Amino acid sequence: MDPILFSRPFHSPAEIENVAAVLATDHVHGDGPFTASASARLRDLTGAAHALLTKSGTHALEMAVRLVGVRPGDEVIMPSFTFSSGATAIVAAGATPVFVDMDPATGNIAVDQIEAAITTRTRAIEVMHYGGVPVDMAGVLALAASHNLRVIEDNAHGLGVATPAGVLGTLGDVGIQSFHDTKNVHCGEGGAVLFGTDALTEPAEVMREKGTNRSKFLRGQVDKYTWVDWGSSYLPSELNAAVLDAQLASFDTIQAGRFGVWNAYRDELAEWASANDVVLMDPPGGVHAAHVFWLLLPSPARRDEVLERMRAEGVQATFHYVPLHSSPAGMTYGRASGAMKNTDDFAARQLRLPLWAGMSEADIARVIATLKKA
Ligand SMILES: Cc1ncc(COP(=O)(O)O)c(C=O)c1O
Repeated sequence: MDPILFSRPFHSPAEIENVAAVLATDHVHGDGPFTASASARLRDLTGAAHALLTKSGTHALEMAVRLVGVRPGDEVIMPSFTFSSGATAIVAAGATPVFVDMDPATGNIAVDQIEAAITTRTRAIEVMHYGGVPVDMAGVLALAASHNLRVIEDNAHGLGVATPAGVLGTLGDVGIQSFHDTKNVHCGEGGAVLFGTDALTEPAEVMREKGTNRSKFLRGQVDKYTWVDWGSSYLPSELNAAVLDAQLASFDTIQAGRFGVWNAYRDELAEWASANDVVLMDPPGGVHAAHVFWLLLPSPARRDEVLERMRAEGVQATFHYVPLHSSPAGMTYGRASGAMKNTDDFAARQLRLPLWAGMSEADIARVIATLKKA
């Protein structure tokens, strides 16, 4: 029997046509018509005042950290349970990531433990909406306001997730998206920075264009462009933007496909989970992005055993992040604030099921049957 892959990139109908259109022109570098179109789609989807495409979510995080003014010697508070890029972006700016434990109900940073991590060196709080389940942003923004801190939202998982306060990625000072091909919407490798307001747009344009005011020049606002500040080459080529534009046009189809799988797992595993001491992902208010479906097994040994048995049957279930506070680089470059009990426990007992738009009913049934048997 064919294996059931953990993740498969979605292929949208227009992407080959879009890429061919780019190759037929003389504008293959960045910031052409497909970049403009994909950025407009991102603004429509999120309500962001500005959306700038980048080559990756990692690059978007590097920009975000510098844009909010993080400097060498500063500290940035972040969850331990997240991808390494959240920390490498801070380290690249010469600052120290300070890791905080998680809320095991969501997998997000424990907001009630952030205040204890604040020192005189703290410059910003970087949250990550795990699986597109919203962090308590009202709580984070209130803390940030009372301590004069900036807020970065790593929304790599949660494109387009709406909350009463606004769409994820637009609620803090800067938000980021990833369009890596493991994400709901992708262009192979890609990302974006989102801004809820205009405050950081100008420095962001300069940073993204190798430190120059080329964006102003292209709009006819200056008569020549020059080096004005720190920057790097963060903008993607039109080839990536062409794929992204097609993917964003298929956003509703992608999400409907992913939610179909997610809801089937929830409905068909509920009874089995409660009879077997298994905790299923249960997003507060049912708000999430259908990016991951996780469950917690009763013990780390059971998790490892179940994973091994599922893989032996060709079902590519997996775990997720190795907590950053106990990773080799996390211990070198960062520090933990307080105990990490929930993070360690969650990471050791968590299992994720295959989830992608286009899984057949037979695939879903096989994943469920294999899990129950394992
Ligand atoms: C939460 C989170 N942030 C950032 C990233 C980095 O994104 P990219 O792979 O586009 O650099 C990832 C990638 O998996 C991620 O899961």
